[in-house]
Amino acid sequence: MNKELFKDDLEEKIQALKKRRNAVILAHNYQLPEVQEVADYRGDSLELSRVAAKTEAEVIVFCGVHFMAETASILCPDKKVIMPDALAGCPMANMITAADLKKLKEKYPKAVAVGYVNTSAQVKAELDYCCTSTNAVAIVNALKGKYKDIIFIPDKYLADFVSKQTHRKLIIWNGFCPTHVKILPEDIKQKRKFHPRAKVMVHPECLPEVVALADAVLSTSRMAKFAREDQAKEFIVGTEVGLIYRLKQDNPDKEFYPATERAVCPNMKRTTQEKIVWALEELKEEVKVPDEVRQRAKKAIDRMLEIA
Ligand code: 13P
Ligand code: SF4
Repeated sequence: MNKELFKDDLEEKIQALKKRRNAVILAHNYQLPEVQEVADYRGDSLELSRVAAKTEAEVIVFCGVHFMAETASILCPDKKVIMPDALAGCPMANMITAADLKKLKEKYPKAVAVGYVNTSAQVKAELDYCCTSTNAVAIVNALKGKYKDIIFIPDKYLADFVSKQTHRKLIIWNGFCPTHVKILPEDIKQKRKFHPRAKVMVHPECLPEVVALADAVLSTSRMAKFAREDQAKEFIVGTEVGLIYRLKQDNPDKEFYPATERAVCPNMKRTTQEKIVWALEELKEEVKVPDEVRQRAKKAIDRMLEIA
């Protein structure tokens, strides 16, 4: 069926429902174009939580993955946070549980525990500091003089990048992003051959061999900024392919090439306009972090915000 036929109907419905529910739609940079089209804001995981924390809307429709909606719920407990597809999870976040982290902390009782925002609220509740791909280096730099041991979970590749940047050995977890590891050094080398003038920007979740080939290692929103501000007219993009849509829209005079078309996060593609209509009609699926977990998880996020 040609979905384009009903596109305007759906978009009109979403606008009307949004008004009726006093809702705001937030979309991560990896969402499908049809979702980005109806979003009030798009951004990286932290930016979207910050928008959520400031919004006057009563309902937040979070188009992303589960840990992102949880973070919004942690930061704004009085709002109703809903996900159009609650099965959209992050496999990396699911690679560590709160029990795993507790065990690791028992093994290194003097260590400070730093965790990527790509973790469940239960895991965040066990952390001392949260971090994002934008501020992970700054957080570890701020802590390295104060603590002998630093636990860094769950992404071993982000940990490797941070460890190299801060010249600090970290206690790491064996987590990784199944989407970013699909980007191989050969992909970058091949794309560079075809586009010799292009700058290569990659996400720090990529393999160290890929990171070593990049001109810039950046979070998704920093990539958007870099693409806007850099003199280059062509870019090879080493992250989930969904970001390309936004990059092209923001910079119609520049060219963007995905490092590989294989870098697709299936969970980020679960949300559609039809599911947004359903979510707004039914006010479902609600993501609510229980208060006891929320308060502990918020401390780790607040400590991060104090530093970076
Ligand atoms: P950003 O915070 O850079 O948007 O990354 C989130 C994510 O899930 C990357 O895979
Ligand atoms: Fe998780 Fe990777 Fe998907 Fe990001 S791209 S949401 S880290 S699986």
